Amino acid sequence: MISATDNWKQRFHPEPDEGWLNDPNGLCFYKGLYHVFFQYSPSDCFGGGERGWGHFAGESLFDLRFCGMPVRPDSEQDRDGCWSGSAVVFNDTLYVFYTGNVDDNGIRSSNQILTTSNDGFVFGAKKTILSAPDYPSDITFDVRDPKVWYDGTWHMVLGARDKDDHGKVLYYEADDPYEWHFVRAYYRPGYGYMWECPDMISIGGHKFLMTCPQGLAHERYRFQNVYSCGYFRLLGEEPGDLEELDYGFDLYAPQTFTSPEGDVILIGWMGMSDNPFDNPTTGFGRQNCLTIPRRLSVDEDGYILQEPFTEEENVIEFTDISDSFTILISDARLSFSEGEFILDLTRNDIGKGRDIRRAKVDKVLSLKIVCDSSSLEIFINDGRIVMTSRFYPDSSNVNISCNGIRRR
Ligand code: FRU
Repeated sequence: MISATDNWKQRFHPEPDEGWLNDPNGLCFYKGLYHVFFQYSPSDCFGGGERGWGHFAGESLFDLRFCGMPVRPDSEQDRDGCWSGSAVVFNDTLYVFYTGNVDDNGIRSSNQILTTSNDGFVFGAKKTILSAPDYPSDITFDVRDPKVWYDGTWHMVLGARDKDDHGKVLYYEADDPYEWHFVRAYYRPGYGYMWECPDMISIGGHKFLMTCPQGLAHERYRFQNVYSCGYFRLLGEEPGDLEELDYGFDLYAPQTFTSPEGDVILIGWMGMSDNPFDNPTTGFGRQNCLTIPRRLSVDEDGYILQEPFTEEENVIEFTDISDSFTILISDARLSFSEGEFILDLTRNDIGKGRDIRRAKVDKVLSLKIVCDSSSLEIFINDGRIVMTSRFYPDSSNVNISCNGIRRR
């Protein structure tokens, strides 16, 4: 049932007023503004119709405004969608790399396209820089989501599926961003048929390959969603085991960028394709939003920590944390006991089909929750474990009650 008033419009999460949003794209700071582009279908809140890059921009990451759809599928090379990609600021110009999707009666091809801008709002000519002949011979047409960075050399990672249905990440280099050569593929057996939205980052000397693998078997504590999202620690160039970035219902396709202060900031899509859950915001003509920014660091064991990077008033902190506690946020129930942290959204249909997500946690040493009108982001133990989810309280007055733990 749709409530008569729209309680679910997010107050501080980037969310378009209408249409469908998915992956964050092209995160950057350019000429005094933060730019957060995103996959956008303006005319259909279920993702149909024209798919291009929507745009939020602002002087602060906490105050972004919607600026339309500057990258549209208006050429032969991207006629069925301007799909995900990234941005690099180089010589005062914004270089934007994305995947042009082309669908010839069910036969798809993927072009990696470069376009540039001198103001972050208007983009120039599009040039295909990689297409089918440039991919290794064992790779299918599923090659997409260029994440590019520059450090004297240009680097690009691309998500891919090989002909034996293994997910892989392709790595290219260039001296000139229009001329790329293939260097190697990253692969670890046992992680599904397709790896989407890769990213490669270094924090404090630790190197990570992030990606979103599809086709993992669901387990009680791992890979609980239809698709997954995590990172491999790179030991040399070899990926270790996949560590999940999130244990909630709604986190996919995260992307990072380095802020002017030198922080590695991650923003994700609070949603996922083919999720079997409802988002009743569709009753108001819109679906999905982005997460708050999260500042990444690395703990002493070499795992990524995510810290909420938002205005202080948005963060609920807890203290006096005992070995067994429950927190009720409206009808969302969070609980911890005997090494299991549970997010339960079954009460009064608050999760609209979302039921229970679990994470293994030895001891809860710290807990922060960022709660907006229709989302929860739960940061356990300095963000070593994170749970991100939409939820749909009936009223805009969300009550919080605690047992075995205290709100600070
Ligand atoms: C991930 C994804 C990307 C693709 C985009 C299309 O959610 O499937 O791989 O580029 O969405 O919108």
